[in-house]
Amino acid sequence: MKVDVLLGLQWGDEGKGKIVDVLTPEYDIIARFQGGPNAGHTLEFEGIKHVLHTIPSGIFRDSVLNIVGNGVVIDPVIFQKELEKLAPFNINIKERLLISKKAHLILPTHRLLDQASEAAKGTNKIGSTLKGIGPTYMDKTGRNGLRVGDIFMDNFKAKYDALVEKHIGILNHHEGFEYDLAELEGPWMEGIETLRALTAIDSEQFLNDAMKAGKKVLAEGAQGTMLDIDFGTYPFVTSSNTVTAGTCTGLGVAPTKIGNVIGIFKAYCTRVGSGPFPTELDNAEGEKIRKEGNEFGATTGRPRRCGWIDLPQLKYAIMVNGVTELSMMKSDVLDNFDTIKVCTHYLINGEKVEHFPFDIIDVDLVPVYEEIKGWNTDLTKLTSFNDAPQELKDYVKYLEQKLEVPVTVVSVGPDRKQTLSNK
Ligand code: GDP
Ligand code: IMO
Ligand code: MG
Repeated sequence: MKVDVLLGLQWGDEGKGKIVDVLTPEYDIIARFQGGPNAGHTLEFEGIKHVLHTIPSGIFRDSVLNIVGNGVVIDPVIFQKELEKLAPFNINIKERLLISKKAHLILPTHRLLDQASEAAKGTNKIGSTLKGIGPTYMDKTGRNGLRVGDIFMDNFKAKYDALVEKHIGILNHHEGFEYDLAELEGPWMEGIETLRALTAIDSEQFLNDAMKAGKKVLAEGAQGTMLDIDFGTYPFVTSSNTVTAGTCTGLGVAPTKIGNVIGIFKAYCTRVGSGPFPTELDNAEGEKIRKEGNEFGATTGRPRRCGWIDLPQLKYAIMVNGVTELSMMKSDVLDNFDTIKVCTHYLINGEKVEHFPFDIIDVDLVPVYEEIKGWNTDLTKLTSFNDAPQELKDYVKYLEQKLEVPVTVVSVGPDRKQTLSNK
């Protein structure tokens, strides 16, 4: 069996959590392969809204295993809080949630380093979620990190102390940066105890054995392609590979084992944090999208920047991920627009550019739009794509033709049920 991959094609928050939840009944295992609690994946069903940060979005479905892969970074404090929120749902966490021994740990000092680094950058800050993601991945590639498997070793405390000492040395260089480490360490050590009581495994072996035995696996991406450390809008990105290739390194599955790649995008576009966003609307139209789409971060509550869909950007994301099918999310947010705009290309320093180039920051970039007729209909009650207004069908057809990939799912609301198949 092959691993199917589901990931975001824009700057995150495309609605990945919702679609993972919708697709979970088709799978035996859902596995996160990168990122950490910078992610906020929202699921809605039976009138309840759930936000997951580290735990895969298959956790609410019976008889599905959920794996936190080696490519993920875990904050034991946030992890414990997530588990506490799941308590009322009587999920057998020890059996249904498996954690890679190779996943790296976010230390309290990683969070402090994130804060100190962002503060030092001033107006050039990344707009990080301040969860310690960057510093943790730096320690991973710098070969200093602590991993889940280490917490079962006798020398864990000594390793922890040595890394913290190193971090304090760096923090001391940040003049005026104040912190109370002792206050942060108590809950962190408690979280470590919680982790120790869970099931830590060699997840790459487990996954490959499961696939050999015919189990179906869905890899759940976090963030989005434009936040990828290599292919995103660097340096305004996260610190992991959010693209399909990240599945191979973040789960230990071979490139030849990748199956379908499901790309998730909004019917428009958003970004939270700093960095370039060619089709951003800094006007009443953008404000309207933010209001209708309730575009406020699931992790930090920050208002998301809003704009129109960007074809050069989406084509680029489809290319680097090898996307085989698309899910268009939040279509209902455009219910009250007479016209919808689609950026077909850019004018960069006056020249027509149809791909997503290296530099979009220090240039004069003008997005060029095509106007599409809006549907001006409430989509949220639709139960079949056949019954959708012609204008929505035309919008989907237009995108399929431009992007050369079928749009197999159209989402018309946050609830599990508000999901239309277009297969
Ligand atoms: P993720 O990080 O990609 O999982 O996305 P988030 O959960 O951060 O953000 C998506 C937001 O949009 C959440 O609040 C979802 O409940 C909501 N959502 C998902 N699909 C739809 C949709 O089709 N329509 C509307 N109105 N909201 C949606
Ligand atoms: P999900 O999985 C949207 C953004 C941050 C910041 C940049 C770096 O919910 O789609 P980091 O904390 O990684 O150092 O932040 O990346 N960012 C996200 N934006 N959705 C996310 O995750 C994000 N995770 C990080 O806002 O601009
Ligand atoms: Mg999110």
